[in-house]
Amino acid sequence: MDKLFITGGAGFIGSAFVSLALAEFPRCQITNFDALTYAGNLDNLEGIGEHRHRFVRGDIADRDAVLAALGTETDALINFAAESHVDRSIASADEFLRTNINGTQVLLDAGRARGVRRFVQVSTDEVMGSLPEDENAFFTEDSPFAPNSPYAASKAAAEHLVRAARHTFGLDTVITRCGNNYGPRQFPEKFLPLMLSNALGDETIPVYGDGLNVRDWIYVEDHCRAILLALLEGRAGETYNIGARNERRNLEVVESVLRALDKPSSLIKFVKDRPGHDRRYAINPSKVETELGWRPRETWESGLQKTIRWYADHPRWIERARNGDYRDYYAQHYGAL
Ligand SMILES: NC(=O)c1ccc[n+]([C@@H]2O[C@H](COP(=O)([O-])OP(=O)(O)OC[C@H]3O[C@@H](n4cnc5c(N)ncnc54)[C@H](O)[C@@H]3O)[C@@H](O)[C@H]2O)c1
Repeated sequence: MDKLFITGGAGFIGSAFVSLALAEFPRCQITNFDALTYAGNLDNLEGIGEHRHRFVRGDIADRDAVLAALGTETDALINFAAESHVDRSIASADEFLRTNINGTQVLLDAGRARGVRRFVQVSTDEVMGSLPEDENAFFTEDSPFAPNSPYAASKAAAEHLVRAARHTFGLDTVITRCGNNYGPRQFPEKFLPLMLSNALGDETIPVYGDGLNVRDWIYVEDHCRAILLALLEGRAGETYNIGARNERRNLEVVESVLRALDKPSSLIKFVKDRPGHDRRYAINPSKVETELGWRPRETWESGLQKTIRWYADHPRWIERARNGDYRDYYAQHYGAL
């Protein structure tokens, strides 16, 4: 698995995966195919260099562009590219259907046409909907699909297409499903970086509803290590749920951040709940633990410390991501977006 084609590698998780794969595998060569939407940020790839990493700007729903970039010697295609923000999918689902569904099908077709040895689809626990607050209920790989937002529905559709490519054409596929990631370089519209950057600037922190929704948090590099294992050792046609057994209520997460930054809880402002807001996600990761021997390396406390330190040390990244200045980098280097 030396030649990897990674989509969405300028985003939060994709860029962490690119760094990790290059660091762990000295022979690995990566083509990083990313459309650079508002969420894709070449600043995330700073320092990676061009020796074993080739960046190609392109849209996964553009068949010709994908085929041209993929070449004939790719070992594995790992699909991170997606429209990923639930709130945006509620405002308008069009881009979610185009990228997450049509784009995945284009990648599957192109992977087959170019003889890619393995296709990894990076999916989400949200395809399985919401759990009751009963703490004995967990998502397993056999939980039924029950997506509740247009984002989750588009990711569920993508999983179905991956399954169909496996069943109908025998493509070697693996699906990974994960919960809420946290760590450096996450676009500041998402919950944790939003609250972190607001808290650092002494701005109010909006919290949906009663703040008691539960999410299962995982440090981004731990997620990427699990994807690497699934890529190398996962069984073809299988799905692996990835979670760090780390359930937290949203309010608890905000309070941890405020405490760590020594900021007052008066910054918290409860706002009208998101329509259809899922109450609880919680993953049973037994399969990835027992089959692939994966364990998270970070605890909630150590991962949060690293994350907070990174945001505190990178005010310019936050500023550029918030006002869109990072897009100038591309314009300067590669021409207008
Ligand atoms: N963030 C999480 O907590 C989380 C949890 C579980 C699963 N996931 C999944 O992981 C993947 C990565 O998530 P993320 O948080 O890094 O997302 P992100 O929004 O930070 O990054 C997405 C990347 O995809 C690119 N992209 C979007 N549309 C594209 C298109 N049409 N063609 C090519 N590139 C395109 C963007 O430019 C961006 O670089 C997604 O598939 C998401 O569904 C995310």
